[in-house]
Amino acid sequence: MGRFSGKVALITGSSKGIGRAIAVRFAQEGANVIINSRNNDEHVAETIRQVEETGAKVHFIKSDISKVEVVYAMVKESVEVFGKLDILVNNAGVEINAPFWEVTEKDYDTVMNINLKGMFFLTQAFVRYMMENNVVGVIVNNSSVHEELPFPNFTAYCASKGAMQMVMRNLAVELGPLNIRINNVAPGAIKTPINADLLSKPELLGTLQNNISLRRLGEPEDVAGVVAFLASDDAKYVTGSTYYVDGGLTFHYTEQ
Ligand SMILES: NC(=O)c1ccc[n+]([C@@H]2O[C@H](COP(=O)([O-])OP(=O)(O)OC[C@H]3O[C@@H](n4cnc5c(N)ncnc54)[C@H](O)[C@@H]3O)[C@@H](O)[C@H]2O)c1
Repeated sequence: MGRFSGKVALITGSSKGIGRAIAVRFAQEGANVIINSRNNDEHVAETIRQVEETGAKVHFIKSDISKVEVVYAMVKESVEVFGKLDILVNNAGVEINAPFWEVTEKDYDTVMNINLKGMFFLTQAFVRYMMENNVVGVIVNNSSVHEELPFPNFTAYCASKGAMQMVMRNLAVELGPLNIRINNVAPGAIKTPINADLLSKPELLGTLQNNISLRRLGEPEDVAGVVAFLASDDAKYVTGSTYYVDGGLTFHYTEQ
């Protein structure tokens, strides 16, 4: 019996990277999972393969989470397919690299609408589903160390992640009386396609690793383990918190 036996989990942006690792981890622990991404491509097929290998059931929803009517439809479809929904992981996110003075309205809107608006209204749809059906679930958001740390040339990204911190803290207060928990996981530098550029530049990578106490980038599975903990009853007294999964990046200090 896994920690998520009989549970259903929806993970946004789970065709690859951290989202895929979360979907597989939930499946390994007994959940049926709903995966999602904007496109139906070879990455989706690979995630489906890895989830099915565990014996779990998987359903894919192709959708762009930045639209309110779309995220409401996602909750409806999830419940139609598996009969219920217990866990929401707001994982999908994008970043666009540009100096502040060159950020376009389109790029700003893209980042904010996916990272912040998407999680905001999908969480609202999930909360309404729980309230209407008198059931209780749990929410985990994948923010970033950049909900706290500056990241030059990624100001819209930092704004979206900083806002995720405050949305999470507010909702912990509003949803606590309903016994609905919500927490953030804040990854540092993780080996995923979002970091393809960085991973291809040894010099940049070396500098970054020197700023990480554990001296290595994280694996998607390192994040998935903490997400699973927060979504499980092992964390039943945890709400309103951010858990850093950063190898010591955020509070790194050295005089060498
Ligand atoms: N990789 C890191 O170092 C790192 C660090 C901190 C935080 N994060 C956060 O972790 C999350 C996942 O990042 P990753 O590195 O796995 O990224 P990734 O680029 O590997 O995967 C992102 C996933 O989100 C999906 N996606 C993007 N826009 C979407 C949309 N509008 N609707 C639905 N799905 C969409 C993509 O299809 C993909 O499945 C993001 O929120 C990111 O900000 C990543």
